[in-house]
Amino acid sequence: MPGMTPPRFFALVPAAGVGERSGAGQPKQYVEIAGRPMLAHTLAALVAVPRLSQTLVVLSPSDDRFEAALPDCGAWVARVGGASRAESVLGGLAELRRRGAGDDDWVLVHDAARCLLQPAWVDALIDACQHDAVGGLLAQPVADTLKAGGADGRVSATVDRRDKWAAQTPQMFRLGLVERALLALGAAATDEASAVEALGLAPRLVRASMANFKVTWPEDFELAQRWLYQVGPSSR
Ligand code: CTP
Ligand code: MG
Repeated sequence: MPGMTPPRFFALVPAAGVGERSGAGQPKQYVEIAGRPMLAHTLAALVAVPRLSQTLVVLSPSDDRFEAALPDCGAWVARVGGASRAESVLGGLAELRRRGAGDDDWVLVHDAARCLLQPAWVDALIDACQHDAVGGLLAQPVADTLKAGGADGRVSATVDRRDKWAAQTPQMFRLGLVERALLALGAAATDEASAVEALGLAPRLVRASMANFKVTWPEDFELAQRWLYQVGPSSR
């Protein structure tokens, strides 16, 4: 319709977690990787995507480190994080609304802990989803044989991996839809797609790369650092 503004694209980065599994003794987003806090690499990749109108980073209300650790990061900042990832994302969606975003604008939610993100993957996700009725996510087909494990540390079953994908981020949905989905599913949602699926919708799977892994365990910092030195700052 003439006169209608086309939907915009926003990135939302939940960064209000404590990083317990990383064993870092501090929120993992502030651990230095290749000379910069992990979160700085993540935000730099998003800020380098011209189609994104803005990137909003969601911090814990008690975060007193961001401005000193990441001066001039180019992103909007809001201390509206909650007790779960889903609550942090909901806080961020409300903040985007306060800053002028509407139901039909696209939101790309991306984990702060996926610091190896490349702008080209974000572009591929936007290309694949911008005309989709539901939206979608970056993901990787599972290559390894999958085992279910019991509490005794032994294999209880081998799981057919042929239709299995490992979900990554960004996950891209319209603001109105993803907000409704997360409100319905509550804190149980570990990603946006599962909340959207619970509404009976099928998000699109967009293949990315193993390199888009989430820094989770102590040994992951070293691995991420090696990738970052390999790829180099020029890709940012
Ligand atoms: N996150 C958040 N608010 C929370 C929990 C998580 O914003 N209450 C964010 C994290 O900062 C991270 C992303 O969600 O960028 C993915 O979560 P995860 O990798 O699980 O990070 P943590 O929850 O910090 O780590 P852990 O589960 O090991 O404590
Ligand atoms: Mg967590």
